[in-house]
Amino acid sequence: MDFELNELQRHTQQLCREFAARELIPHARAWDEEHRFPAEAVKHLAELALLGVAVPEQYGGAGLDNVAYAVAIEEISRGCASTGVILSVNNSLYCDPVLKYGTEEQKQAFLVPFARGEKLGCFGLTEPEAGSDAAAQKTTAVRKGDSYAINGSKNWITNGPVADAIVLFAMTNREAGNKGISAFLVPTDSPGFIRAKPDRKMGICAAHCCSIFFEDCRVPAKNLLGGEGDGFKIAMSTLDGGRIGIAAQALGIARAAFEEARSYALERKTFGQPIAQHQAIQFMLADMATELDAARLLTHQAALRKDAGVRHSAESAMAKLYASEMASRVANKALQVFGGQGYSKEFDAERHVRDARITEIYEGTSEIQRLVISAGLLKD
Ligand code: CAA
Repeated sequence: MDFELNELQRHTQQLCREFAARELIPHARAWDEEHRFPAEAVKHLAELALLGVAVPEQYGGAGLDNVAYAVAIEEISRGCASTGVILSVNNSLYCDPVLKYGTEEQKQAFLVPFARGEKLGCFGLTEPEAGSDAAAQKTTAVRKGDSYAINGSKNWITNGPVADAIVLFAMTNREAGNKGISAFLVPTDSPGFIRAKPDRKMGICAAHCCSIFFEDCRVPAKNLLGGEGDGFKIAMSTLDGGRIGIAAQALGIARAAFEEARSYALERKTFGQPIAQHQAIQFMLADMATELDAARLLTHQAALRKDAGVRHSAESAMAKLYASEMASRVANKALQVFGGQGYSKEFDAERHVRDARITEIYEGTSEIQRLVISAGLLKD
């Protein structure tokens, strides 16, 4: 087993690390406070082909593998967790299903400009009454001639306020249960596509999400992604990839918290010596570093399986479960190392705690990840 990154992956890591140091870390606190979407940074990341990391070059992407993708999201999230999820949603939840299930015509219209970062995508699965129970979709799509009429609502749609298109899931045959769900490619300027104002939330404040309402929203029949009834499997297999992105985002947040706590521990003195000399602090740092490495190994394992083209639902769920809960533990320990300063808005420790928390919830809560993992364990 090779634990070293290859040359391209190392290059991606270096490129993203330098970008984060130069264009993200100096601004992340202000973007969070002002709830400001990092439009300039996203534009520059597009120029580096990071909006379609694992999309082949012929479709506008960087043509790298999923380990490189995980490495990129970790480094970008180390600089700004909000920018990390903006990228992750466009890469894994939007581009990936279009690449995997789209026709050539759909790829030209709905993949190339998004992988190039000229446009931004989002993913519409969650509804007010279909969060963890993703099959309980209430949004309907009814075929009318050569188009579908979509009615219903979606919520918590990351990138929703700024996206140019959505991979949307809707019921085309209610009697068929999860086999009655279909996926559609919907431009956000379609008539009847209505966005609510951005949601106010606890963390990742620079990444905007919103509810979306569909009022007789007409979509050409050729925008059906895959076949009618394929939607649930498209959503689930897409989330298998998305969860690698969120695990990598959690790694980045935890790295930021750990590295800042380590530096602070070497400077801050109590009882006549740097607090890094106290065993209580050393043990905290040791636990943080160990958990970070363990989470990274799980994340890269899931990415390697995705690259090998084999089902990786359990590996992605394990990576997302462990990395997200690790990020919360590490961010909380880092805040403790900072003591009173950790509770202050003048430092980043409190932001990392707030940013880490969502990774335990979106793209499937920790409880859903445990369901996915145990389903695999209990099969004969
Ligand atoms: N790949 C391919 N097929 C899959 C699959 C996968 N990963 N997972 C399930 N399936 C298939 C099953 O094989 C089954 O097929 P058959 O009927 O042909 O055997 C079918 O789908 C139904 O599977 P289940 O019976 O397991 O489905 P379920 O209704 O019990 O649900 C669940 C399973 C794991 C709970 C699922 O509902 C789930 O993952 N829920 C969480 C949803 C989620 O993560 N939402 C996040 C929204 S996106 C978001 O947060 C984005 C953002 O803005 C950042």
